[in-house]
Amino acid sequence: MDGDGSGLTVAGVIMEELRNLLEARNRHISEALSIAHGKPLHIVRGEMQYLHASDGIKYLDLVNNVSHVGHCNPHVVEAGQRQMAILNTNSRYVYEELTEYLGRLTSTLPESLAVGFLVNSGSEANELAVRLARSFTGNHDMAVIEGAYHGHTGMLIDLSPYKFRGPGGRGSPEEWVHVFPIPDTYRRPGIDYSAEAREAMKHAGPLAGLLIESMLSCAGQIPLPPHYFSEVASAVRNQGGLLIADEVQVGFGRVGTHMWAFQQGGVIPDIVVMGKPIGNGHPMAAVFTTPEIASSFGDMEFFSTFGGNPVSCAIGMAVMDVIEKEDLMNRARILGERFKDGLNSLMQEHELIGDVRGRGLFIGVEMVTDRSTLEPAAAEASALVDSMRDQGVLLSTDGPLHNVIKIKPPMVLNHDDVDRTLSKLENCLSAV
Ligand SMILES: Cc1ncc(COP(=O)(O)O)c(C=O)c1O
Repeated sequence: MDGDGSGLTVAGVIMEELRNLLEARNRHISEALSIAHGKPLHIVRGEMQYLHASDGIKYLDLVNNVSHVGHCNPHVVEAGQRQMAILNTNSRYVYEELTEYLGRLTSTLPESLAVGFLVNSGSEANELAVRLARSFTGNHDMAVIEGAYHGHTGMLIDLSPYKFRGPGGRGSPEEWVHVFPIPDTYRRPGIDYSAEAREAMKHAGPLAGLLIESMLSCAGQIPLPPHYFSEVASAVRNQGGLLIADEVQVGFGRVGTHMWAFQQGGVIPDIVVMGKPIGNGHPMAAVFTTPEIASSFGDMEFFSTFGGNPVSCAIGMAVMDVIEKEDLMNRARILGERFKDGLNSLMQEHELIGDVRGRGLFIGVEMVTDRSTLEPAAAEASALVDSMRDQGVLLSTDGPLHNVIKIKPPMVLNHDDVDRTLSKLENCLSAV
């Protein structure tokens, strides 16, 4: 029988369930937390690069860079379950999982970044990084890039132009925050972006540091231009500050050629911040730095109750196993190229696509209504995301002008996923 005996069809029952869930959500969750993908999606199961909805539809997830090695990756699930049954305690005790895991992560980093702090979220990690920079340098002011988002705590909202200039924000930076323009080679070509940042820095005075993503995410999926990272690092260091690389979005091999996106930038950061993919969905994050900077709190103790607990370490270790055993970094490079080649072909046919950019599986497609004025096609980008959703592919938009489609899927994607996405995009673009 098509229904539950109450006269409702299966589709009706599913709608009813969703309505109840939304009602409960609206009662107990602040409206400050919006729902992803426009129409609410009731997801009941994750399976590697796919999400299954309650109505039986299987979606290809092209935006969740947290589920780095795949939703519910069995190796990661098993590692967490096993460790949960053996021991979970805190990092004031001595246990192999902690030291082995820290050793594993440091083995991927330059030798100087030998000391790690394990915490629970990207926000907590960025807070800690800024605190370390302030203690080490004795300076207070910070620099960030226009359009950046670094976390939801009080201090990080002040360090996130994406937030303080966005809806509900105060509009302008606090006096201790200095904002450098986005080195955007598409919208502002032919500029010496490093000189521009140096100019902005002249007015800043002594700095504690520059907090910068090694490849910009919320600012519009923008790879840093050649030499920018190293040139801006030396300018910041000349002002007494440290270079803090936020790898929360782009780390763990996503850029395809290196484990860390900063490794193509020609400079070793003083502090590296990791998050999102580090635990494949388990709440974890980390800060790595030099022994000297790590010691700068002096006599003040550092302790994070959950950071570095054995279960998190086992999960983090399993994530590293999968990245290495399945050669996911290389896969990101190959599939990223395939994606970009296909998107570039679509750009030839469809005027709406103004720019295709990115590294590995971190790609941005900037949409414009006019290729000469670069008028942002925000409504069209959003309509495209909606119609792709109706075709079973989850994407989203970002960037200061809300016209950049971002692609940052679980890294276990395959060739067929890419090819099918490109052909669906072609159909949807013709209809927009
Ligand atoms: C670049 C970047 N840094 C930091 C954060 C904050 O991480 P979390 O949400 O885990 O606190 C985010 C979150 O979106 C981010 O994108």
